[in-house]
Amino acid sequence: MPAYNSRIMDATQPCYADEDWHEHAFDLTRGIAVYCRSPLVKGLSRVIAKHPEADIGNAFNHKQVACKMWARDSLFERVGGVFGEIWIVGGWYGVLAAMLLDDPRFKIGLIENSDIDPAVGEIAETLNHAHEERFRAVTADMYRLDYVGRRPDLVVNTSCEHIPDIRSWLSLMPKGTRVLLQSNNYFAEPTHIACVACLDAFGELAGLSHIDFAGELPMKKYTRYMLIGRV
Ligand SMILES: C[S@@+](CC[C@H](N)C(=O)[O-])C[C@H]1O[C@@H](n2cnc3c(N)ncnc32)[C@H](O)[C@@H]1O
Repeated sequence: MPAYNSRIMDATQPCYADEDWHEHAFDLTRGIAVYCRSPLVKGLSRVIAKHPEADIGNAFNHKQVACKMWARDSLFERVGGVFGEIWIVGGWYGVLAAMLLDDPRFKIGLIENSDIDPAVGEIAETLNHAHEERFRAVTADMYRLDYVGRRPDLVVNTSCEHIPDIRSWLSLMPKGTRVLLQSNNYFAEPTHIACVACLDAFGELAGLSHIDFAGELPMKKYTRYMLIGRV
């Protein structure tokens, strides 16, 4: 290789190997946010800069995004887009909340994103900074929330594979409470303690009194199941 070519390589291909990738990811997502005029992508760039410990690449990977878009679009098609208060339990970094608040089809008074892990609330707030007046992050066990006293318009749990007993959790809610539930058959993942083998098994486990939507979304390694209906 002539010396000239190697000099061009040096000048045009920066080596990031010993630098922090967060800085570059921040620059990139901030630029994409400006280009797309997207408060959601701006929120992502802030998470990358402010919370380098956050596993945001996992929470916002293309499969997670597809599952959340499926939830959002099915909810809009089957139930509509007007909600006073939505609770998203086991909501992790608040990615679904960000997608719902970002979508102009929805008119939502407040989304409360709760999670048992105290490390995730601040990250969810950073992600949802653009909608801070309509978003709240709370550290709480979903089995200890007051569903009867506060009566949210919709309770969302896309983490059903992570909780030990869905039926006893649903039994904490007044009859008629609207819910959106997701689970999957990804038994190989060690943190999944309550996967279901098929959509029928999920329906039987939940025992909802009314179903607006029941469907499955095949992914490469597993299938995700969703129920929208009433307890
Ligand atoms: C890996 S995440 C989310 C996975 C899911 N596919 C999603 O994106 O919605 C599962 C979350 O459930 C939370 N979680 C588990 N048990 C919980 C409980 N009893 N109450 C509230 N959150 C809980 C965990 O802390 C974690 O943030």
